Amino acid sequence: MVSSSILCTVALALASIVGAAQYCDPVTTVCYSETKAGDLYVRVALPAVEKDPFDILMQIVAPKAAAGWAAVAWGGKMTKNPITVAWANGNQIVVSSRWADQCASWTADNAKMAINPNDTAAKFAYALAPTPPSQPANNASSIVKHTIHASFTVDLAAAKTEKFEDYVKALSSGRK
Ligand code: HEM
Repeated sequence: MVSSSILCTVALALASIVGAAQYCDPVTTVCYSETKAGDLYVRVALPAVEKDPFDILMQIVAPKAAAGWAAVAWGGKMTKNPITVAWANGNQIVVSSRWADQCASWTADNAKMAINPNDTAAKFAYALAPTPPSQPANNASSIVKHTIHASFTVDLAAAKTEKFEDYVKALSSGRK
């Protein structure tokens, strides 16, 4: 089951798919830069820009059995960076943005932090727990502590695409 949404949000596909550096979603036709991070596949697409601000499309693929919830930290650590948490609520995906409402740049300890769209190995982190959130329909639900966490890198330069606005329009229009 795949659902898609834009910008700082994610689509969580509950399936298992063989990894590749570039992944083109056969349903939405969006092409992402893909990284395998433990049990997860994390896919990103961004516009062909040189610096922030910019929007990012992210898709997380997680096996339901391992991931009652799964999360990606955009600055590669647990605290003081944007975190996207996602989980299944039946066949729906619930997305929860924690800590910040910006993705490409943020402020931590009075310093501006920004994702560099030309970075070929941008540091992200993921975490997951097999236990689902206590209130799966509520995107503000509490979650239990992760059983696994690790950092991984994403090739953002390879995720840049001239088709970004087309992708966003197509996904926003609800096309599957
Ligand atoms: C109820 C929620 C959470 C609790 C109680 C929690 C607790 C902790 C604790 C105690 C540590 C220290 C090392 C350890 O004990 O494993 C840690 C590390 C870590 N956690 Fe969480 N965590 C939570 C949610 C998250 C989420 C949503 C992410 C998103 C990716 C995350 C990512 C990490 C990472 C990357 C580390 C490694 C150290 C660091 O970067 O700060 N955690 N967590």
